[in-house]
Amino acid sequence: MKARTVSASGLQLSSRTAVSSSICWQCLRNDLFSNQVQLQSRKYHPSRRRNVSPFGAAVSAAQTIFKGLPSAPPGVSVDPLRIVGKELKFLTKNIRQLLGSGHPTLDKVAKYYTRSEGKHMRPLLVLLMSQATALAPRRKHTDCKTSASIDESITSHSVLADTNPDTNPLAARSAEAKYDFEGDENILPSQRRLAEITELIHTASLLHDDVIDNAVTRRSSSSANLQFGNKMAVLAGDFLLGRASVALARLRDPEVTELLATVIANLVEGEFMQLKNTSQDESNPVFTDDTISYYLQKTYLKTASLISKSCRASALLGDGAPEVVEAAYSYGRNLGLAFQLVDDMLDYTVSGTELGKPAGADLELGLATAPLLFAWKTNPELGPLVGRKFNQEGDIQRAREIVHRSDGVEKTRALAQEYADRAVAAISQFPDSEAKAGLIEMCDKTMKRRK
Ligand code: FPP
Ligand code: MG
Repeated sequence: MKARTVSASGLQLSSRTAVSSSICWQCLRNDLFSNQVQLQSRKYHPSRRRNVSPFGAAVSAAQTIFKGLPSAPPGVSVDPLRIVGKELKFLTKNIRQLLGSGHPTLDKVAKYYTRSEGKHMRPLLVLLMSQATALAPRRKHTDCKTSASIDESITSHSVLADTNPDTNPLAARSAEAKYDFEGDENILPSQRRLAEITELIHTASLLHDDVIDNAVTRRSSSSANLQFGNKMAVLAGDFLLGRASVALARLRDPEVTELLATVIANLVEGEFMQLKNTSQDESNPVFTDDTISYYLQKTYLKTASLISKSCRASALLGDGAPEVVEAAYSYGRNLGLAFQLVDDMLDYTVSGTELGKPAGADLELGLATAPLLFAWKTNPELGPLVGRKFNQEGDIQRAREIVHRSDGVEKTRALAQEYADRAVAAISQFPDSEAKAGLIEMCDKTMKRRK
């Protein structure tokens, strides 16, 4: 079993220390941590120093203890990709291992979107959050989590690999990804697996989304639906969800399972909301107070839920204290909303070549997103076009012109910036570290991205 290096008061647990299964390294580390934090935080007790919250005090104490760990001075930006670059290099390899199937065609279709490098934004955030919360206060460790490996099945292999009839040559292979690289010592194997699970769920949703949207390209190549047809693309997406569920179960954490299963339901709820542009079911809708909140609720379910709940799950797996879990969740929720708002803005402002997928696709699909909704507020003539989903000759061109001569794009950018700022504020109490600087930089990158 692998433990993380904890350098406190001269005590060193090597990342390669073999800890017997009767000793829980987490308990060991948390005892160490809480003793030291208690000792140190006395110096910072609110009765002695005003305006320092217990969370802030514990954070300062933790910073003192973990002096040896890399930190970036506040305000200095770092490259998030560099911080977890080595981890990401193995991410695709591990995901491909999790997706192995004895059926050659299924194997090919399931792994299709792992060929080209995506942005890996979701796993990147989970990995950075894992590192950043490793330094933050932990909850009191009451019960020892099982020491079983994340690759160890819960059910016996004879049941998991059973077949009907039992001579079936396509017997399921076990979904296992062995970690044969020296990963970052501040990322737990369960958090690394969580990062892979987020990418599996996201990729499954893209496989389905491309069928729904009748897409022709994805990540600058042919989309899976075009390459293999709708049936195979949908089935491959289902297969990814199946493998993600197995991996999730093997984390042996019911709260994390509940969170990520809810994400899958949220993705579908978001897509259902997106089938309508507004909560009004009329051919000539009017802009109301409810218009933007309907859009933001859909946006949360469709995009931000995966980011918020996986950031929360990452903090939970690292045994973060309740306020750390809430901060991670709030960071993810706000960044997720900013990310989709920018996505919807880029659909109006960037060329298809830059995006790696057709630009202006939202109007073509009949979707009224933030830039158009903000334009609609001051241009009521957009109502009938929204109602008929821009399906009449000239509707798309007219809508685009109105958006460009309105403040819709600027308002979208300003709202995205507000959410990005809130994401930064959410983790302000985390101890300074490279990972925290990386999370802050992700907010900046989200605002500046062109694809
Ligand atoms: C991309 O949106 C799609 C999503 C963010 C979610 C899609 C969700 C589903 C299809 C529900 C089914 C979910 C699962 C897990 C199977 P977009 O079309 O705005 O972006 P794009 O331009 O990249 O296609
Ligand atoms: Mg799409």
